[in-house]
Amino acid sequence: MNTPVNILAIVGSYRKGGIIERAVDEILASARERGAVTRKISLLDKRLVFCTNCRSCTQIAGENYGVCILDDDMAALLQEIERADALVLASPMNAGTVTAIMKTFIERLVCTAYWPWGAPAPKARRPGKSKRAILVASSAAPGILARLTGDVTKRLKSAATMLGAETVGTLFIGLAAQQQHQELSKRTIQKAHKIGRKLAAGKSTKAS
Ligand SMILES: Cc1cc2nc3c(=O)[nH]c(=O)nc-3n(C[C@H](O)[C@H](O)[C@H](O)COP(=O)(O)O)c2cc1C
Repeated sequence: MNTPVNILAIVGSYRKGGIIERAVDEILASARERGAVTRKISLLDKRLVFCTNCRSCTQIAGENYGVCILDDDMAALLQEIERADALVLASPMNAGTVTAIMKTFIERLVCTAYWPWGAPAPKARRPGKSKRAILVASSAAPGILARLTGDVTKRLKSAATMLGAETVGTLFIGLAAQQQHQELSKRTIQKAHKIGRKLAAGKSTKAS
């Protein structure tokens, strides 16, 4: 029997049960139906503090992520990420970009790079892409406009790259803030299910 695909979703929405979380739930449910093992982490439930730019974590060369001096939930989160075959990185678009909690998480990924004092720029410790990633984003604006004017998917994709994951699909949900408890459209649910099935099967998906 094949080992099940292990999918980890990292959710940067401020609302439990909002559009982002429900879209992620649809992806994960359909992946589970195809035999995947899934786990969802809401960044709201984690204690992540701001990177202090001390750069301790970037000084020692090697494949292992640098050790952060801050004592919070980031190290455990990175361990979970290491165990995953595929990631779902999800955030609403706020002020044109990812939410502040997602940005805090992304900044803490500096430990995935080797960047000693004196070097002009960080270098990825693991330049390869051994995982796959799906990006999920939402906006009040229509999707096309939001993608043109904001950088939420760019930020999520760059996080995926830092974590050694190739982005194989994006689900962008525009017009997501018209009701307080907005339903996902039938089309979005279908797209989410397609992504979930393909993630579980270990295939790329272009359900953007
Ligand atoms: C502080 C704040 C800033 C926002 N900025 C934008 C924005 O720049 N562009 C946009 O289209 N929607 C913006 N929105 C709307 C959110 O993207 C929308 O409510 C969210 O995608 C819904 O996701 P959720 O249900 O998971 O919370 C903003 C919402 C808030 C609360």
